[in-house]
Amino acid sequence: MEYIPGLNGVPAAESKLCFIDGNKGVLEYRGYAIETLAEHSTFEETAYLLIKGRLPNKDELSRFKDDLRHHRRLKFKIVDVLKLLPEHGHPMDATGATVAAMGMFYPAKNVEDPEQRYKSTIRLIAKLPTLVAAFARIRKGDEPITPRDDLDHAANFLYMLSDRVPDATASRILDVCMILHAEHAMNASTFSARITGSTLAGPYGVISAAISALAGPLHGGASEAALLLLRQLSSPDRARMWAEENMRNQQIIPGFGHRVYKVKDPRATILQRLATQLVEKTGRSAVYDTAIELERVVTHALGAKGVFPNVDFFNGVIYDRLGIPVDLFSSMFAMSRVVGWLAHWNEQVAKNHLLRPTQIYQGDREKKWVPIADRL
Ligand SMILES: CC(C)(COP(=O)(O)OP(=O)(O)OC[C@H]1O[C@@H](n2cnc3c(N)ncnc32)[C@H](O)[C@@H]1OP(=O)(O)O)[C@@H](O)C(=O)NCCC(=O)NCCS
Repeated sequence: MEYIPGLNGVPAAESKLCFIDGNKGVLEYRGYAIETLAEHSTFEETAYLLIKGRLPNKDELSRFKDDLRHHRRLKFKIVDVLKLLPEHGHPMDATGATVAAMGMFYPAKNVEDPEQRYKSTIRLIAKLPTLVAAFARIRKGDEPITPRDDLDHAANFLYMLSDRVPDATASRILDVCMILHAEHAMNASTFSARITGSTLAGPYGVISAAISALAGPLHGGASEAALLLLRQLSSPDRARMWAEENMRNQQIIPGFGHRVYKVKDPRATILQRLATQLVEKTGRSAVYDTAIELERVVTHALGAKGVFPNVDFFNGVIYDRLGIPVDLFSSMFAMSRVVGWLAHWNEQVAKNHLLRPTQIYQGDREKKWVPIADRL
């Protein structure tokens, strides 16, 4: 039996959700190119597509958006959970812990019933932005802001975060960022969701497991690391010197490289365009100029190895410009990717087979017991 490190290239499921060709830079959700969705769709419509398997008609989309709007609010006891968490803790830990605690408020009745699964799916997609925005305010000593039913999903999140209704550009840019982060096949967090779901565990446990996996610096945590680096360098010249030194020492650069893409991540191309659009509207920034130079230097040196910017690189530049605190980036990734996780959970449970891989044992066998007094 051959061991494949990182399970690289080993299929863990059959899925109709997401197609990726990492050598050609192709990404499709349910057969639709990511570029098409970024141009024409909204986060809510893309969520419907991923969860239900096809694009909604006008009435279906309107009902789906109503369902989401009606479940945005948090029970006061869930807000109390957030209030009890230490304000200096990482928001991603607050997000995961509170989602796990939500399982106490909405006990899973029968995860094999599609109706029950739909209810949990709506609740989780709708409530995550409220939860993330609420913790961001509570930790500063401010009261959480009640969601507004007249705002779409992305605009409502920005409103709950800042207490100001965002302009159309900011709302649309976040909406597109959320489309780009909604799904990405069998990555580590999705695999965690599918493994947990395959035990028929409840949806809040499934999503908190996925959130824990997403938090790591090799996965969703890279966006935060990339922005902190850009801020620290804060000049194209310093970026060039730092990258050259780093690459000489074979250090990993956050926001670059991908297990699947060996060309530029198509999401990074769209995000770069959005970052440029935002900077043209709001004025140049050292972070943006540094990012452009870092991409040029790293791609020139490592492009031949297949190392290009990934989704986390320009994403941070955009969120920074939208005034979002850097330690919220991973939680914002989670509030988009929750759609993909739940689509995978639905797919897994609808045709379930407990995930139980094997291992290649490399330890000792049949050893003789030595009483403790005789051990060296
Ligand atoms: C995501 C990641 C873990 C993928 O790793 P992987 O599939 O194991 O890629 P590999 O290790 O096979 O990379 C191939 C080569 O490119 C190099 N490389 C990959 N990512 C790199 C990076 N970010 N900076 C510098 N070199 C990198 C590797 O060192 C390796 O070099 P080698 O062939 O000389 O040993 C890796 O690219 C990484 O750590 N990136 C930074 C974290 C990040 O942005 N994560 C978010 C991913 S969406």
